[in-house]
Amino acid sequence: MKRSLLIFALLFATTFTAIADKGMWLPSLIASRIDDMKSKGFKLDAEDIYSINQASLKDAVVMFDGGCTGEIVSEKGLLLTNHHCGYDAIQALSTVEHDYLTNGFWAMNHAEELYCEGLKVHILVRMEDVTDRIAAGETKADIIAKAEAEGVGFKATVESMYYGNEAYLFIYREFNDVRLVGTPPTTIGKFGADNDNWIWPRHTGDFSVFRIYANENNEPAAYSSDNKPYKPARHFHISTKGIKEGDFTMIYGFPGNTQEYITSDAVKYVAEVSDPTKIALRTQRLDIIGAAQASSPAIRIQYAAKQANIANAWKKWQGEVKGINRLGTYDKKLAYEERFRRENPDKAYLLDSLAAAYERNYEGYYHYELYSETLRGIELTQVVYIALNDRLSEDERQAALERFYKDYNHNVDRQIAVAMLSAYAEKASIFSPELSALLEEHGGPAAYAEWLYANTTLSSLESYNTENVMSDPITEFTLAIEPIRMYVRDYTYRNFSNIPDIERWYRPYVKALMEWDKERAFFPDANLTLRVAYGKVAGYWYADGEYHLPQTTLEGIIAKDNPDIYDYNVPQALRDAYATKDYGRWGREINGKYTVPVCFIATNHTTGGNSGSPVINAKGELIGINFDRTWLSTMSDIEFDETLCRNIICDIRYVMFVIDKVGGAEWLIEEMGI
Ligand code: ARG
Ligand code: GLU
Repeated sequence: MKRSLLIFALLFATTFTAIADKGMWLPSLIASRIDDMKSKGFKLDAEDIYSINQASLKDAVVMFDGGCTGEIVSEKGLLLTNHHCGYDAIQALSTVEHDYLTNGFWAMNHAEELYCEGLKVHILVRMEDVTDRIAAGETKADIIAKAEAEGVGFKATVESMYYGNEAYLFIYREFNDVRLVGTPPTTIGKFGADNDNWIWPRHTGDFSVFRIYANENNEPAAYSSDNKPYKPARHFHISTKGIKEGDFTMIYGFPGNTQEYITSDAVKYVAEVSDPTKIALRTQRLDIIGAAQASSPAIRIQYAAKQANIANAWKKWQGEVKGINRLGTYDKKLAYEERFRRENPDKAYLLDSLAAAYERNYEGYYHYELYSETLRGIELTQVVYIALNDRLSEDERQAALERFYKDYNHNVDRQIAVAMLSAYAEKASIFSPELSALLEEHGGPAAYAEWLYANTTLSSLESYNTENVMSDPITEFTLAIEPIRMYVRDYTYRNFSNIPDIERWYRPYVKALMEWDKERAFFPDANLTLRVAYGKVAGYWYADGEYHLPQTTLEGIIAKDNPDIYDYNVPQALRDAYATKDYGRWGREINGKYTVPVCFIATNHTTGGNSGSPVINAKGELIGINFDRTWLSTMSDIEFDETLCRNIICDIRYVMFVIDKVGGAEWLIEEMGI
């Protein structure tokens, strides 16, 4: 009796969760998931998440700077996002005298908030299925133009779902007066940097604070000192009660790119060609940059952002390959395709057509990726593009050159050019006659690159000279690779499968899947449109005998503290708080210690773009800010595995603790109503 009950419970548990935690759902269709969400503990209704009739949580979610998410947490437009999402804005405001990256920044009143030029946030007004309008012959441009005429600051896009089977209109309000309110120092906001990136247990306070401003009618407006804090239709309330394993969590944000429905051929390309090729090439570049950074503090700063960028995807791809292999994704897809063929003999040609389309476009896409990771990484060619760009005014050209050379080191780039030109010559089959002739004339790619960097006059801003540009050997090189750049332009798509010649077969294929596989819960792939993902707080088995708990604390920060290592040099304010256990309202008893919660993990299906997303509890209250996944999860862009896939969240209580005890910005905590 007991045993059969247990078996029943286990069966129930597995089927139950298997349906629940995967997927990134369109908020306007969330009613179709709400029963499942409620069975997992969610207490609100579909209309609370998304509504066009009343204020709903969607009014408090923003797309931040075109690639991240943020959330509004007060009735005065106060906004939380990640530190790494605000990084560019914070860097742009920083000078040697006011180094906000290193020291942090805290406005103590509205007047001290700093306008961030060029920073935009978008708030969704509504979304609408326009599949029928497009089928009836209306163009995207018409639909967009009509939508944008509806209101002040309206920006619209039409995005395709399921490879063009459906189309949705998204209408946003675009705000462009956004100001920096606060940021912790890098030693909190980027604590652990690349070592800890994609890693759990994690101790990064990856958050920053901004504010949206609007005109006197609460509408989007260009920056003006007359603008007022934006009054949102809805903002998030914060819960500091904390979380425990098993608690319901929901993420509301803008995931960028997943490939849930790709065929086995595309999986094989990712795991066996694309990722391994890109990883190997980036390893070479990172070795060169890393050695140079270790040798000189100036180079360490110059190449910090470039290095972080290259290393981020490099590490992600390694996890992705391992994950795909571990899950046997290729074999599973193959078996699924065989079943599809057997049960839909009249549609089997779709799979053949897809396979043929991959074959046809393989060389082109491979070269696009190869070009992007090799020739395009040779920095000095950018000077030629700046010099020859006739759309730039002379002032703009000068400014672009100054920006370029500020973070340029000729010796680093020389080594990169030698390595990357050699790699391209070795791996590529597409050349231009001009490039082949140059390689031949100079005794091969390595010798040619050395010669180029010894003979160019463009090595620094001081030696740069407009008269010399046209006759410079770097210009000759850049023009020689131009045909390759033109060739790969036709293959420049987000994923291999999005090349139109391939994608046109996905449209009928995915449609056929939806008609055939009634068990499968279909969600449209992520495409930087607003989505809901839900799951629960959960640890996981990292390795045999090694369970990772879902919550980290200040104890772990102090354990990592090392004044000699830049990325682990804990700010003194944190050390002091720890020494005196001065945790104010944010101290908690966790794992038998009085401490401060820092990060936690959950089973939400997320991807790049979900950075900064609000993480909410069953009552819709904000409990954290999403900022990463674990290394072992990154194959979830292709196959999500809920026993292993975990997103990493900065606990809202750590955010409050830092604002309070490190920033001394109590006025913000009051404003958030805690
Ligand atoms: N891995 C996170 C993401 O994919 C954080 C990246 C920023 N941090 C860094 N060290 N590069 O974007
Ligand atoms: N850090 C990522 C971002 O910036 C989110 C992590 C992920 O890929 O899941 O969007």
